Amino acid sequence: MNLGGRHAVSTLNDIIEIPIDAEGDIVRARGTGRDICRTLGFAEINQVKVATAISELARNIHQYAGKGRITLKVLGAPRPGIEIVANDEGPGISDTKLVLSGTYRSRTGMGKGLLGARRLMDYFELVSAPGKGTHVTLRKFVR
Ligand SMILES: Nc1ncnc2c1ncn2[C@@H]1O[C@H](COP(=O)(O)OP(=O)(O)O)[C@@H](O)[C@H]1O
Ligand SMILES: [Mg+2]
Repeated sequence: MNLGGRHAVSTLNDIIEIPIDAEGDIVRARGTGRDICRTLGFAEINQVKVATAISELARNIHQYAGKGRITLKVLGAPRPGIEIVANDEGPGISDTKLVLSGTYRSRTGMGKGLLGARRLMDYFELVSAPGKGTHVTLRKFVR
């Protein structure tokens, strides 16, 4: 799979790791995710949804943990799609239920990034606790 020379995804289940260390890495993660979705044949609206979700997770890593990584994986048969895993070893989230409740309002943002990502994707899992870092897994299928 050719992603404009930026990355090469040669086979299904190939994995691309994008370290998130600086602000610019958020844009890189977003763009790489969108490129993969386009190559996989995602409808344009769904390319944007995936890119938006990646952007929210990468921004959270940058904003709250300082550094971490986004891993993008192409899912093959029986249901082609993309898997996004965001990992950091930052402070973690003490009340994950609250931040996904819809009533949470943060001081730093809208407080709807994780909830938004969940709504945009087909699969969402958040594992986080103080001292354990934050680990988010998302999946979106081509159809
Ligand atoms: N990677 C992370 N590490 C630590 N805390 C996080 C992380 N991601 C999110 N959080 C916490 O969860 C809250 C909700 O995140 P989010 O839904 O993205 O909304 P926002 O970033 O706008 O506050 C944040 O305010 C922050 O306290
Ligand atoms: Mg956020």
